[in-house]
Amino acid sequence: MAKTQGSETSFDSVLQEERVFPPPKSFSESAWIGDLDIWRRLSDEARSDRGAFFGKLAQELLVWRRPFTKALEGKLPDARWFVDGELNATETCIDRHLSTWRRNKAAIIWEGEPGDERVLTYNELAREVGRFANGLRSLGVEKGDRVCLYLPMIPEAAIAMLACARIGATHTVVFAGFSAEALRDRINDTGAKVVVTADGFFRKGNVVKLKSAVDEALKGAPCVRKVVVARRANATVSMSEGRDLFWQDLVAEQPDVCKAEPVWSEHPLFVLYTSGSTGKPKGVVHGTAGFLLGAALTSRWVFDLKDEDTWWCTADVGWVTGHTYAVYGPLALGATVVMYEGAPLSPAPDRFWRIIEKHHVTAFYTAPTAIRTFLRLGTSWPEKHDLSSLRLLGSVGEPINPEAWMWYREVIGKNRCPVVDTWWQTETGAAMIAPLPGATPTKPGSATLPLPGISARIVDEGGKDVPAGKGGYLVIDEPWPWMSRTLYGDRERFLKSYFSQYPGWYTTGDGARQDEDGYFWIMGRVDDVINVAGHRLGTMEIESALVAADDVAEAAVVGTPDPVKGTAIVAFVTLRQGVAPSPVVADSLRAHVSREIGAIARPDQIRFADALPKTRSGKIMRRFLRDLAAGREAQGDMSTLEDIGVLASLHEGDEE
Ligand code: WT7
Repeated sequence: MAKTQGSETSFDSVLQEERVFPPPKSFSESAWIGDLDIWRRLSDEARSDRGAFFGKLAQELLVWRRPFTKALEGKLPDARWFVDGELNATETCIDRHLSTWRRNKAAIIWEGEPGDERVLTYNELAREVGRFANGLRSLGVEKGDRVCLYLPMIPEAAIAMLACARIGATHTVVFAGFSAEALRDRINDTGAKVVVTADGFFRKGNVVKLKSAVDEALKGAPCVRKVVVARRANATVSMSEGRDLFWQDLVAEQPDVCKAEPVWSEHPLFVLYTSGSTGKPKGVVHGTAGFLLGAALTSRWVFDLKDEDTWWCTADVGWVTGHTYAVYGPLALGATVVMYEGAPLSPAPDRFWRIIEKHHVTAFYTAPTAIRTFLRLGTSWPEKHDLSSLRLLGSVGEPINPEAWMWYREVIGKNRCPVVDTWWQTETGAAMIAPLPGATPTKPGSATLPLPGISARIVDEGGKDVPAGKGGYLVIDEPWPWMSRTLYGDRERFLKSYFSQYPGWYTTGDGARQDEDGYFWIMGRVDDVINVAGHRLGTMEIESALVAADDVAEAAVVGTPDPVKGTAIVAFVTLRQGVAPSPVVADSLRAHVSREIGAIARPDQIRFADALPKTRSGKIMRRFLRDLAAGREAQGDMSTLEDIGVLASLHEGDEE
């Protein structure tokens, strides 16, 4: 952790930004929250009685089987919400709409990369979910069992998630870009009984095979009894007799209706793996009621979703954003959700704008890395399309630089749409610091203010509030309903990772500062987690993959600023005796990391060195490596360096 080496963290990287954009008047007039005074009132209300505040909202926004009598029990890290209540998430996301005019409203408008389309109304979604839920039951899946979903962005992904929820099974989605190795680890960690996958999917004009990775993963995953394969790409698959079956065959004889299994509020809805500062990914566990409230409430507060909206969150269901804002949140509100299978620039760089125009998308949510890519491609691509249906733009996943923010606002939003930069994490479950688009004046690059009920502060090492303008550690000091409850099977690591720095406060792992107006400016991770194109990776995870390669003796991975991806991955590597550095070795190491983790973790640069700089206690000095990777002179205190000669050799050896 950088924190143990205090001077490593630079908090002064965000320049002063003076521009302020008040919410458009016409937007405020019809917004769910149209005035900053309402934000103030709600925030005060929450502060005076957090339980009562969220309790009222949970009654209003969620469908309950058995109403709760107590909203909040206990304190961080043991806070529990709506404990004696019972519900089923799908009754909020689906059933409640079936008794209204929404029954034949589009729930999901899906577009495949080749241009094929499927539209599922709420009623059709209910039937698909019912059939698949019955199918899962027929395979022996019971309440509390884990089901692993290794699926691309096809409607089956949402259907399978909801089908798990329907029968009280806990889903764990593994991003389809992850390797067989990564999949195996996650399956084994949760002890999943069933894996749901697809034959393959379309990306950049090619078919990417998926089922073969499952076959590979299952060579070492004895917990899995059944594999369900959705046909999507007409890819040839080998089916293992007695273990594997096609989705279409599984549901063929199943009735449309499946009775929802009521669960208690804290029942684990899903586990989602994310990177931490050690080599092993963390299985973040989310409960049912608190998470669902966060998803629904923030979809309303931050994205102002209404019945008329066609909402498109571009995130893959393999990430938390895809859980909260491509599935649970918008469906809970009865919105229409656009879902797209493929790559953003396929077949041409205007694919996103084409989709927005074609489906009349009204609210659009994507990542800064995508926005920076579009910015570089120029205005001609969005200018080809009528984007006048848009009324709101959102950003998530990493700090957005003011230039990208302004481009988004001007070129895509035509200075008409509020831009909401939303700060949150896999662990927080839903948005935490974000503007209310009808109320909060925005500043390019700031996530603005904590949502009502979210108590964020910025503190120094000792836990004291830092003054405005000064950087510090971002913590949350009061419970909120949509926080993660534990790490799967590892409560101790949960407590150690998030609650040991400042007992009773949740440590986010991010650095931030507040300006004179109290606005939050997130400065990025202060631990060994890096954010590559909006995807979170642990440097240790990549290091473990590298040292597993035969040629490698030692490896240290750092992030370095990249104009499009935000952060690029630089790996410093020392080779085993007898292996000489060469571009061929570098390429093979890059391929090796792809195989071990997935293409997103592939190092952008491999730099060979004779030795790595270490402190006398044997810790790799990442600060030096970061400086080196960024082309800066190494700064700071070198007195703890074990061998100053190492630095010289690193300078000389920094060619690939
Ligand atoms: C980390 C969490 C939130 C869902 C997607 C990522 C960074 C996220 C912002 C933002 C600055 C951001 C933080 C955070 N991050 N959103 N709006 N501004 N930084 O979830 O994979 O759990 O990553 O992403 O560093 O800690 P995640």
